[in-house]
Amino acid sequence: MTPGSTPRMVHTRAPGKINVFLKVGSLQDDGYHDLATAFQSVSLYEDVRAYPADDFSVSVTGTVSLDRVPTDDSNIAIKAAKLLAATTGYTGGVRLEIDKHVPVAGGMGGGSADAAATLLACDTLWGTDLPREKLLELAAQLGADVPFALTGGTAIGTGRGDQLSPALARGQFQWVLVLADFGLSTPVVYHALDEHRERNGRDILPVSSAPNVDMSVLHALRAGDPQMLADTLHNDLQAPALQLEHGLTTVLELGEENGALAGIVSGSGPTVAFLAADLDSALELQIALSAAQLNVVRVTGPVHGARVIAE
Ligand code: C5P
Repeated sequence: MTPGSTPRMVHTRAPGKINVFLKVGSLQDDGYHDLATAFQSVSLYEDVRAYPADDFSVSVTGTVSLDRVPTDDSNIAIKAAKLLAATTGYTGGVRLEIDKHVPVAGGMGGGSADAAATLLACDTLWGTDLPREKLLELAAQLGADVPFALTGGTAIGTGRGDQLSPALARGQFQWVLVLADFGLSTPVVYHALDEHRERNGRDILPVSSAPNVDMSVLHALRAGDPQMLADTLHNDLQAPALQLEHGLTTVLELGEENGALAGIVSGSGPTVAFLAADLDSALELQIALSAAQLNVVRVTGPVHGARVIAE
């Protein structure tokens, strides 16, 4: 783009994520839980194209089921664009086109990736050029996982999951994802966890108000060793997700029977992520799970966070 000119269209892309470790602490007064997580962004992307317009609108296409995606002001991408406009004093609007590949309500941060890609697209289209820190602040206002969709890579998240610090990760991990044809609501899964803890309070360890990511996870990531990482995969939201959707247990068993090092429910589910030892075992696992009529996608991680593809 030549200096001072307005681009006709900005195309951005942001990745989905897997939580390779997720410990949920206690419920706070603001309705969020304190948590400690290790995120890894993976090669399944949301594409956003932003065009100049007088008002705000969004249209959605994609390879995943789009039934639950609103196209009114409740769409998180519209919220992101409006938040950026309000913050910067920008008086125009934007027409957004989203091409979705991350499952909707799938526990992989698809909506968060839409928000991150939209913030970046509008900031570029409008020439508002916010500093990185400010973009991350807006991202955190939009949702707990939005800052990570901006930064990508591998990171530790604390607080609501929005306080990020980078984690060293060597090499590429091979993941095989099983996408469900239904979604799970994140608040519903958190609520099921709270209820379980209330019911069984006397029998389980006290819930930590400031949970930590286990050192073994950081070691495994730094070593780039899939077997080590498989041994440390953990998600406190897995039990409530399995309790809400019993069929996911069969999916987890099937993956582990077919050569996965380990399987885990991603975030609040229902996507199940299997870690494979290498590309060959990932391909074999992909074939076996596809033969069982499951909707399977093979990805690698970590990958870049939100970035501008074309302007
Ligand atoms: O921030 P986001 O919109 O992704 O969060 C959706 C919901 O998930 C929250 O309203 C809350 O119920 C739950 N949540 C939580 N603790 C977190 C993150 C999300 O309880 N750290």
